Amino acid sequence: MRVTVLVGSQWGDEGKGKIVDILSEKYDIVARYQGGANAGHTVEIGNKKYILHLIPSGILRENVICVIGNGVVIDPEALLEEIKILEENNISVKGRLLISHNAHLIMPYHKLLDSIRESGDQKIGSTGRGIGPCYTDKYARKGVKIVDLLSKETLQEKIKINLEEKNNLLKKIYDKEGFSIDEMVQQYIKFDKQIDDCITDAAFFLNSAIDEGKSVLLEGAQGALLDVDFGTYPYVTSSNPTSGGASTGTGIPPTKINSVFGIVKAYTTRVGHGPFPTELNDETGNKLREEGAEYGATTGRPRRCGWFDSFLVKYSNLINGVEKVAITKLDVLSAFDEIKVCIGYELEGKRLKSFSTDLTRLYEVKPIYETMPGWSENIEECKSYYDLPQKTKDYLDFLSNQTEMQIEIISVGPKRRQTFFVND
Ligand code: IMP
Ligand code: MG
Repeated sequence: MRVTVLVGSQWGDEGKGKIVDILSEKYDIVARYQGGANAGHTVEIGNKKYILHLIPSGILRENVICVIGNGVVIDPEALLEEIKILEENNISVKGRLLISHNAHLIMPYHKLLDSIRESGDQKIGSTGRGIGPCYTDKYARKGVKIVDLLSKETLQEKIKINLEEKNNLLKKIYDKEGFSIDEMVQQYIKFDKQIDDCITDAAFFLNSAIDEGKSVLLEGAQGALLDVDFGTYPYVTSSNPTSGGASTGTGIPPTKINSVFGIVKAYTTRVGHGPFPTELNDETGNKLREEGAEYGATTGRPRRCGWFDSFLVKYSNLINGVEKVAITKLDVLSAFDEIKVCIGYELEGKRLKSFSTDLTRLYEVKPIYETMPGWSENIEECKSYYDLPQKTKDYLDFLSNQTEMQIEIISVGPKRRQTFFVND
């Protein structure tokens, strides 16, 4: 039995898709536990580039079974589009993709409300995929779940109750057109027919598989600092990307989880609004963005860029229980003569003892930097840890020591072959 949770340790976009793809070779099952089509997991194989939003990146390994857990919110349009793209590339999801009957569905009004709220006063920088409004309904106990698709009457009743409220809101408050019940019911029934074979009691499936000795990789989306409880609230996503979410989002109890694996980028990025202490609003930041091709996989937005923040990653490792990590995009740093690493924060002349998610403090803190010499060598073709320049190894050692994490995987480019295990 081997059950591993894989988490993003920063603000998302650490390269989880690629690392899941690498690790999934050694797992029987890959399951997603939260988020929705707001995620964008990019995997490059040969000359092909796949961007997955909902389906776990394990789908690219033909022996792997993929599960979308109950904690995920499912957008039918996005899911069908993704299945279509995979099948066009001869990657069949038949018999390999399972969807929890307890997952919630994103409805058309969720997407509309997401975009309306984003145009109001409190801008989060949401991806506009309806994620926040869908989780809002889940917790308000108004959500429409996959299991509701089983009965047309139940579905119709739930949509009717929701539309009474949402159409009112849309018309009276936002001066928008409402939605038609019949059209929506038809649309979701059609969707049900297309995914019917995939729907299952995923918690039962996963637990039985573990009991039979199968290994499971639990794939988180986004990152720890976007966690609704532990992130930079309210500039967060509406679910729990941290490792605890893996249990509630799949039904695999904590006692069956053996380890937590973190993914860190060799520097820091974030999309959307909110505090970002090591952000560089200057030429260095622009250079990181261009060298690292830091544009959102889901929205195409330029990502905000800054130096590695070990104070933040240490906090993230603490709440996730991370033991080992993969470090990604190390090759991007070859372009810099010197590299800075944040080792702590100062606030009003005092050094903070622990990371604070209190926004008023986080906007005011001053990062304390350690400057390291850069390496000028191109490291994209390095095949092992031993191939790396000494200065690169020093950088890695420094990050390891600062954050108390053990680096197990190093990624020096987007391709599968540009990845190696430190001990190989
Ligand atoms: P939402 O999840 O679409 O509501 O967006 C909330 C915040 O999370 C925004 O700042 C988004 O940019 C950010 N976010 C959502 N998904 C991702 C992701 O996969 N990577 C990075 N940021 C994300
Ligand atoms: Mg992404």
